[in-house]
Amino acid sequence: MIRARIVSTGSYLPEKVLTNQDLEKMVDTSDEWITTRTGIKERRITSNGEASSTLATHAARSALEMAGISPEELDLIIVGTMTPDMLFPSVGCLLQDKLGAKRAAAFDIFAGCTGFIYALSVADSFIKNGNYQKALVVGAENMSKIADYQDRRTCALFGDGAGAAVLVREEGDRGIISTHLHSDGRYANLLYQPGGGTAIPATHESIDKRLHYLKMDGNKLFKIAVKSLEETVLETLAFNNIKNGEIDLFIPHQANLRIIQAIAKRLNLPEEKVFVNIQKYGNTSSASIPIALDEANREGRIKDGDLILFNAFGAGLTWGAALVRW
Ligand code: UT7
Repeated sequence: MIRARIVSTGSYLPEKVLTNQDLEKMVDTSDEWITTRTGIKERRITSNGEASSTLATHAARSALEMAGISPEELDLIIVGTMTPDMLFPSVGCLLQDKLGAKRAAAFDIFAGCTGFIYALSVADSFIKNGNYQKALVVGAENMSKIADYQDRRTCALFGDGAGAAVLVREEGDRGIISTHLHSDGRYANLLYQPGGGTAIPATHESIDKRLHYLKMDGNKLFKIAVKSLEETVLETLAFNNIKNGEIDLFIPHQANLRIIQAIAKRLNLPEEKVFVNIQKYGNTSSASIPIALDEANREGRIKDGDLILFNAFGAGLTWGAALVRW
């Protein structure tokens, strides 16, 4: 059987730390509220000049180094991001140049916090159908640049960072087993950035109205997230005819500890099989899964042959899951 195997991982977090105590001085919030409602204690924030492609480059170099693969060997680069350096060209192309990955086709996937799973799915298809041998899949986000630090309902949630994985075409059981993608555009306005695109280009008025910042109806999203994430996991398990108990490690998108715990409970997964790092980084959107995967990998929490489940939910709305044999 031909599979796209994840042969290495990498991640990068900017140095600057923004704690809940820092946020208490900026908006009407408290460490107690943020911790109990989200599980977040602190997040990393980029400095000026650190764009998404900068974060992506650090994470990608780390993954390439672990794989022992040179940038010139890459056939494909896909970046999941909703905070690109600029509207165009893509972070993928900027990353391709920074790495010197001269042969690689490069592009971005705009699927909100589900970006990494969408990117993984596309790379998997390209590899399985024989188009490409070696792919770099990255999730890179600079959420602090679109977070409104006057809006307590959103600014405490998000952080910056990037994670990467190198995929190689291989014969055998190990690799991406299946991916399951969903979207529902009817809920586009539950999480969006209204200004800066072609609907509302930048004007003095759009800036005065703070339309270039992220807007979110968290409470409505929460309910849809728990339901659709559970459904996608059940779909993935049924599609592959496997039981919950066979999952060795569940690496969910880190949006809210309460969402992660609700899914884990519904799936009857014990705490030690669920990877959580939201307390350190907040919600890094499409970077959250590859950052968590890299931490789990480097901490030795994944063994050869383990069955790993990813799932994510985000703007679009989009959601999805991926099952991987390590
Ligand atoms: O990344 C993927 C997409 N995003 C998500 O999946 C996010 C899903 N949603 C959530 O994680 C949660 O809904 C939030 C953490 C965003 C909010 O928690 P909640 O329990 O749903 O709170 P809420 O939005 O219902 O707000 C309850 C109260 C409100 O006060 P009033 O209007 O009742 O007086 C908010 O203004 O909590 C207030 N509030 C805060 N208070 C202190 C909201 N944010 C804060 C804050 N500090 N940071």
